[in-house]
Amino acid sequence: MIRVQNLTKYYGERLAVDDISFNVAKGEIVGLLGPNGAGKTTTMRILTGFLMPTSGDAWVADCNMATNSLEGRRHIGYLPEAIPLYTDVTVRSYLDFAGRLRGLDKYRIEDRIDDVVELCHLEEYIDVLIGKLSRGFRQRVGVAQAIIHEPEVMILDEPTLGIDPIQVAQTRQLIKDLGEEHTILISSHILPEVSMVCDRVVIIHEGQIVAEDRIENLSTVLKGSQNIQLEVQGPTSAVTRKLQRVRGVSRVRYEKPYHIVECPADQDLRSNLMAAIVQGGWTILSMGAVDMSLEDIFLQLTSEEFADDEELEE
Ligand SMILES: Nc1ncnc2c1ncn2[C@@H]1O[C@H](COP(=O)(O)OP(=O)(O)O)[C@@H](O)[C@H]1O
Ligand SMILES: [Mg+2]
Repeated sequence: MIRVQNLTKYYGERLAVDDISFNVAKGEIVGLLGPNGAGKTTTMRILTGFLMPTSGDAWVADCNMATNSLEGRRHIGYLPEAIPLYTDVTVRSYLDFAGRLRGLDKYRIEDRIDDVVELCHLEEYIDVLIGKLSRGFRQRVGVAQAIIHEPEVMILDEPTLGIDPIQVAQTRQLIKDLGEEHTILISSHILPEVSMVCDRVVIIHEGQIVAEDRIENLSTVLKGSQNIQLEVQGPTSAVTRKLQRVRGVSRVRYEKPYHIVECPADQDLRSNLMAAIVQGGWTILSMGAVDMSLEDIFLQLTSEEFADDEELEE
């Protein structure tokens, strides 16, 4: 349904997307995950025909988006990063406008407004001015306008960015519901988000794909491991080896003055680590949990060690 082939985009001298290729099959929900500046929005704007690639191709529903974007857009519901919503119209008249823009006739629009309002749970707000809605509800209006013309493919650019936690949960549920009838590409810079809603994830960093797999195969990384940070008085490499041998530990690295021990998220290994240090005859000066940042994860994914692990599993 979506095919990206050797896609490259320069903004002037700046390389934003660097020779990426991936596919999204019909019915899949795929997450495009990466930190700010990774190239997610650029990729999505090319996929929706709003931006020309420097080289390579982007296809949606068999339309090349560089040469046939008008036809292609008929198949796409696009929720841009910042939705340009009018604030002084009601939800109904905005959706009516969106429908006419897509060339639907009057009766079709009425039917479709009923459908999308129900799907996006906007029934109570249909005659409310968009300007009076919270960000989370505006986001739902954004989704509703994106699907008014019944596209098969949805491209959602960070749909939960900047909305409050309760509405984030509702938006995720909405995306899952949409996934039953649509092929979806959704971007995010938040790990748990993609693991909650997506079947598969493409991880992009500095314009390049660094990993691509089904969620369950990336489980140790995506479902979250946790890092425990230890400050130990003792010989660095002997301490590293000792910690490495504690059952459950995935890996240990040293970042002066800390040993960072990576463990599965569902196991609390702190007392075992403590015991190992004591057994070695050393002293613990401090110990604490640190969250794995996206950067840690990208570091892992781009390190050779991880690449080797992946090969072994295949
Ligand atoms: N219109 C633009 N002109 C110049 N550089 C841009 C433009 N849009 C994005 N970039 C740069 O391209 C890179 C990728 O940006 P973007 O696709 O927005 O990433 P993401 O959506 O993953 O945060 C960034 O380094 C960004 O600064
Ligand atoms: Mg972006």
